Amino acid sequence: MRDVKPRPVRSKAKAKPKAAARRKPKAPAVEPILAARDLVKEYNTNGSSVRALDGVSLEVAPGSFVSVMGPSGSGKSTLMHLLGGLDAPTSGDVFLRGKKLSGLTDQEVTLARRGSVGFVFQFFNLVPVLTVAENIALPLVIAGDEPSSYAARLDEVIAQVGLTDCRDQLPSQISGGQQQRTAIARAIFPAPAVVLGDEPTGNLDTRTSQQILNLLRELQEAHDQTIVIVTHDPRAAAYGDRVIYLEDGQITSNIELNGMRGGEARAKAVLAWLQKLGA
Ligand SMILES: Nc1ncnc2c1ncn2[C@@H]1O[C@H](COP(=O)(O)OP(=O)(O)O)[C@@H](O)[C@H]1O
Ligand SMILES: [Mg+2]
Repeated sequence: MRDVKPRPVRSKAKAKPKAAARRKPKAPAVEPILAARDLVKEYNTNGSSVRALDGVSLEVAPGSFVSVMGPSGSGKSTLMHLLGGLDAPTSGDVFLRGKKLSGLTDQEVTLARRGSVGFVFQFFNLVPVLTVAENIALPLVIAGDEPSSYAARLDEVIAQVGLTDCRDQLPSQISGGQQQRTAIARAIFPAPAVVLGDEPTGNLDTRTSQQILNLLRELQEAHDQTIVIVTHDPRAAAYGDRVIYLEDGQITSNIELNGMRGGEARAKAVLAWLQKLGA
């Protein structure tokens, strides 16, 4: 008979995993691509002073779509100008990709902005004597760059906004929607991290507005583009993941739409929110 050695008895109680391992892994904190901290902007004209922004703080996550609403004169355009480094705050800070814009010289701000921010305005501001393609590549056309050096990028952007068929036409020969597409293409041509739009559909009919907003959302979804737009139209605002409401230079409310499925549900949520705000 074999001598069977008793197997060492293993303790049934398993060692408890360390507290750190038990905890769910945290999603890494995403650094905002654009942030504002306590922004104040005062305009002084003819001895009187207007406080257009009165302590605005905001964080925009990379790849997100933020809509800004609020009554006329509430400071929306001022906020966009400051966020894009087109103007400096009276106090407070703007951070673009973590870099503080205040304190930089004009030239340094221009450099920080270049390739980081693209602007789209209500009026398309296209150069009438240049073609669609030339308007889009304007800075490089002005700089006298060899067209072959940017041709590939230009083709890509023109295709992205659906303007291939009218690339050689003048602004006067295309529709308002196509003009705004040209302006959007011009804004995204340098592949900016953020596109800022101040009422980008304010001058367009409903159907064309929808096409432009769909284009913006496509850029966001397919190209991880960060987008911030100002709009008066609740349906336009509903394209955002988040809508903020400005009043007298302050953010007085915001609504999260992320995760809400369907344009109709989002639009309804925005309308109900505005109604509650009494807007
Ligand atoms: N360049 C400026 N000089 C003086 N006042 C200005 C200037 N720009 C805007 N304002 C004033 O600041 C306030 C906010 O304006 P703005 O940012 O254009 O509002 P919104 O875009 O929401 O209509 C308004 O009272 C406006 O008159
Ligand atoms: Mg405005």
